Amino acid sequence: MASLQPTRAARPIPMPPMLRHVMPEIEWAVHAEDVAAIRQLKRDRDAIILAHNYQTPEIYHGVADIVGDSLALAREAVTAKASVIVLAGVHFMAETAKILNPGRTVLIPDARAGCSLASSITAADVADLRARHPGVPVITYVNTSAEVKAASDICCTSGNALKIVESLGVPRVIMIPDGYLARNIAARTSVEIITWEGACEVHERFTPADIAEIRAGHPGVAVVAHPECPPEVVAVADFAGSTAEMIDFVARDRPKRVALITECSMSDNVAAGFPEISFVKPCNLCPHMKRITLPGIRHALETLTHEVTVPDAIAAGARRAVDRMLAVR
Ligand code: 13P
Ligand code: SF4
Repeated sequence: MASLQPTRAARPIPMPPMLRHVMPEIEWAVHAEDVAAIRQLKRDRDAIILAHNYQTPEIYHGVADIVGDSLALAREAVTAKASVIVLAGVHFMAETAKILNPGRTVLIPDARAGCSLASSITAADVADLRARHPGVPVITYVNTSAEVKAASDICCTSGNALKIVESLGVPRVIMIPDGYLARNIAARTSVEIITWEGACEVHERFTPADIAEIRAGHPGVAVVAHPECPPEVVAVADFAGSTAEMIDFVARDRPKRVALITECSMSDNVAAGFPEISFVKPCNLCPHMKRITLPGIRHALETLTHEVTVPDAIAAGARRAVDRMLAVR
């Protein structure tokens, strides 16, 4: 497919009404031309944009076709019909989309969008773990490279980790690479979990003292933590779950005030849909997620860069582990 000429959009897109209480009109004005150009490019390229819940509101509410947590994005990647998939998220998510959809062009707007968990472990580390714990199955969080997935028995996300652990029907599992996620799951099951000491650089920074301060400053606040947070933080939260489960909690319980203990953009994206709820916004930015911008998405669609590829042999092994996860309901 040829490179398209840089686009000039005919008419900037007005701000979606739901963004009114999370973004000043003047800020939208900066984005409006890119939003219009990207919407046109999606039509020209037969492309869709899959965006993670941590993307900024102008991406999430302005140009994304599908939004969700890692599990939802993986499920959507299986059924995507478009010729081109742009993954507004981090590299492992784009790799997963490619593994599940090898016939489509998968683009990531910034190839440097990594993840501290994915970079904490290699396929050789998995082989070492297997040698030290013979016969124990390896459950790998999707926040890993395709090579690490291929070296594993099955994948999991934060949304299905408990279910995956219990689906195997064994007394011990190896769960990599997030030590905190593994401990948070271990607290909820009788299955013994051997883990790895990887951590999310965003969630590991939250402390019980942060939660105490939020509760002191905002009486009655519901505290909802991501399970990549340290167990001491999850222990003092009212609920813990994946980013999609956090949204479900807000939609179901409708607390008057809520604090989402996770990446910064999450609260803005969710708050847009719940104007009656007050969001306390403790904030840790993911520098990798923030590499994805509207100009970057526009450039990716204009030039069809950066294409994500996975060598066939690795893709086959990784797909087996991801498919096995998706089959667990
Ligand atoms: P989920 O959206 O699957 O909860 O994952 C959070 C995350 O940190 C992804 O990078
Ligand atoms: Fe990785 Fe944490 Fe960023 Fe998610 S938030 S991409 S787990 S560093």
